[in-house]
Amino acid sequence: MYKQFYGFSDKPFNTSPDPRFFYSSSRHNEVLSGLWYAIEERKGFVVIMGDIGAGKTTVCRTLMSKLPKNTKVALITNTHLTPRELIAEVLEEFDIEARSGSKQKLLSAFNHFLIQQLEADVNVVLIIDEAQNLSAKTLEEIRMLSNLETEREKLIQIILLGQPQLKSKLQEPRLEQFRQRIAFSYFIEPLNKKDAADYIRHRLKVVGCEEPRLIFTDEAIDAIYQHTRGTPRLINLFCDSALLTGFVENSKPITTRIINEVARERSLDHRPQHTEKVPEVADQASAVQEHITEDINTDAVRTGDR
Ligand SMILES: Nc1ncnc2c1ncn2[C@@H]1O[C@H](COP(=O)(O)OP(=O)(O)O)[C@@H](O)[C@H]1O
Ligand SMILES: [Mg+2]
Repeated sequence: MYKQFYGFSDKPFNTSPDPRFFYSSSRHNEVLSGLWYAIEERKGFVVIMGDIGAGKTTVCRTLMSKLPKNTKVALITNTHLTPRELIAEVLEEFDIEARSGSKQKLLSAFNHFLIQQLEADVNVVLIIDEAQNLSAKTLEEIRMLSNLETEREKLIQIILLGQPQLKSKLQEPRLEQFRQRIAFSYFIEPLNKKDAADYIRHRLKVVGCEEPRLIFTDEAIDAIYQHTRGTPRLINLFCDSALLTGFVENSKPITTRIINEVARERSLDHRPQHTEKVPEVADQASAVQEHITEDINTDAVRTGDR
C-alpha cells in the first residue's frame, strides 16, 4: 500500500521469517554458525530458545537456505502430537513411504532411511519448531530417534526451537537422558540498541532504500528501540504501522512523534506521557534473559554468555 510512496521494492517489515531479510546480529550469527557446525560435525542435538519474535524461526529458515546440497532437512511446526503422530509426520516430511502400521514399524522404516542416507553421504536434519508444546513423552521419543547412530556418528541431527518454557520442560527429572544428549543450547536475547538500529536500516536496504535517514530519523529509530526493547517481531510491527501512518499523513521521514503515536495506538506504551527521556528498559530485560539462560544443567551445554 505504501510501497510506492517510499519507493520500496517490497514491504520491508513483514513478520514472516524470510531469509532474504536476515540481519546478521552478533547473536543471530553466533547461533547460525553454531547450528552450521553442529550439523556439519554431526553433533546430534541442539536447542535454541528465545522469546516470541526473537528470531528463532528466521535463523533456522536462513540456515535451511544455505545448507549444502547433501543435506536433507525436514521442518516440523505442528507440535501437539503424540509420539506416533510425530514419527508419522517425520516420515511424511522426509517423503518416506511407510506411513501406517505400528510405531515400531514406522521407526524401523525411518532407521532404514537414515542408513541409506548415510551410505549416500547425505546429512539428515530434523528441525522441530515451537518445541515448548511437546509433551515429555514425545520429547523422549525424539531422543530415541537420535539414538539411531552408527558406532562412529549420529545418523540424524535434531534442532529444537522453543520459547523459554522449553527450558523448564527439559528440566523434568524424566528427561535426564534427553538433557545429556544436548550438544549445544542457545538463548536468543533481544537485539541491543545498536543492533536494533542496524536491523531497521538493513531491512530498509533490502527493499532498495539507500538512505534510511530519509525514512526514519535517528531519534525515531531510538524511540522504536525503547518501545520494543529490541524484539525483532515488535520492531517490525512498529515500523510497519509507522510507515502506514507516515503514508496516511503524507509525512517523510518518520519522526518520534509518529512512533509515539503508534505506541499509544498499540497500547504498549505504559510510560507517563510528556516525558522527554525514555527509561532504559533493555538492560533490565537482558538481566532477566541472562537469568533464564543459566546453564540448562547438561554436561556439554553452551549457553549465551552475554
Ligand atoms: N536476524 C533477523 N534478521 C531479519 N529479520 C529477523 C531476524 N530475527 C527476527 N527477524 C524478524 O522478526 C520476526 C520474528 O522472527 P521469528 O523468527 O518468527 O521469531 P521467533 O521464531 O523467535 O518467534 C520475523 O518477521 C523475522 O523476519
Ligand atoms: Mg518461530
